[in-house]
Amino acid sequence: MATLKAVRGTRDLLPPETVLWNHIEATARSVFARYNFGEIRTPIFEDTSLFARGVGEETDIVSKEMYTWEDRARAQSEKSQMLTLRPENTAGVVRAYIEHKLGETGQLQKLYYIGPQFRRERPQKGRYRQFWQIGAEAIGPQSAGSESPLRDAEVLEMLATMLDELGITGWTLELNSVGSAADRARYNEVLRAALEPVAPKMCVDCQRRAVTNPLRVLDCKVPEDQPIIETLPRIADCLDEDSRAHFAAVRAALDCAGVPYHLNPRLVRGLDYYTRTTFEFTHGGLGAQNALLGGGRYDGLSEAIGGPKAPGIGFAIGLDRLVLTLQTQSATTPDQKAAPPQVDAYIAPLGENMNAPALALARELRRDGLTVELGDGSFRLKKSFEAADKTARRIVILGEDELQSGILTVKDFASGVQVKVARAELVEMLGK
Ligand code: HAM
Repeated sequence: MATLKAVRGTRDLLPPETVLWNHIEATARSVFARYNFGEIRTPIFEDTSLFARGVGEETDIVSKEMYTWEDRARAQSEKSQMLTLRPENTAGVVRAYIEHKLGETGQLQKLYYIGPQFRRERPQKGRYRQFWQIGAEAIGPQSAGSESPLRDAEVLEMLATMLDELGITGWTLELNSVGSAADRARYNEVLRAALEPVAPKMCVDCQRRAVTNPLRVLDCKVPEDQPIIETLPRIADCLDEDSRAHFAAVRAALDCAGVPYHLNPRLVRGLDYYTRTTFEFTHGGLGAQNALLGGGRYDGLSEAIGGPKAPGIGFAIGLDRLVLTLQTQSATTPDQKAAPPQVDAYIAPLGENMNAPALALARELRRDGLTVELGDGSFRLKKSFEAADKTARRIVILGEDELQSGILTVKDFASGVQVKVARAELVEMLGK
């Protein structure tokens, strides 16, 4: 029978690598807590129309990359439904915000999530079909200050703090404003006109986008199209006064807080819901897929999926890419915090009749907070020593004599010293 493997673009994460994942997630949770963000968990699949309406039909994500299927009716009372594995989580969070009427609290909702997303992209380094995001959204009624440029700057400052606390060095914050919906509509027309004479020289995708959604031409990665794209008008020239002032206030707050950024007028992002501030944090160590994270403001998304006006801003970090970056960095500077935990003791039962007492001893030691590995009474002593030496700092030998006397034999591998220890002193001795 052919051996079964993880599906292309998906992968298993194994120890000790998962130690690093847990460390990153714990650091992110700690930062979110300090900024008063609470966790939201939404389903991994949603009604397909949520993404079609929220993310946009013309985006690569919706038009090419979604895992969609028909969920057939199982009873007469049910209807069949088109479902999609979430390719991103902003649409799901905003759907939940609307469904649970969170806007009626009058408060700004600050929500974060950690979970897998699914896109049918061509797999390569840093790009998977199931990948993980750590994301956050700050959304609420205008009266809660959700539209304030301060929110944008605070989110960006939080990201800078999070990356610094994770020990990511050498990140760049790329920043742009894509303006209001009206600015974008105007820019789309300017682009459409500018593209008309040059589109026939571009790739087939761009020829289509030039008509249907010209802004998406700026996402094009085809090398031959880049010189043409360079000559296109810039969105900065189409922003109205409000959008300009909003963007200036975001930049002023970042300057004041000392968060460095780089203005990138081409950064329009690959999802249709963005308005005003858009950003990415990039990292040179990642190669072609250099975006560690991306995000921006989405002031019209709630209305686009049938909700009340609820401006918001958020981001999603590519966790797989964060891990890759830290692994590359730690090749030069090992990160102690991410090292696997030390096993305090390996308990070696001498003979199979010592297995049960060994389990009881391990239970007590673990309840006292020690990390314990349990051997097996069928092992010869030499094998137990070898196994213990590979995993733990010390070996505790438990034979008939030790059980009767309550005096255990403990060997410390670093010093090579073997001592007798009374059961009552064992926890303290092993914890040292
Ligand atoms: P996005 O730019 O599509 O934005 O994805 C955010 C990040 O997820 C990317 O910068 C990248 O690090 C990671 N990512 C995306 N696709 C893959 C993949 N195939 N394999 C590995 N990593 C990947 C969003 O998803 C928006 N929902 C972000 C947002 C939240 N905007 C506002 N709020």
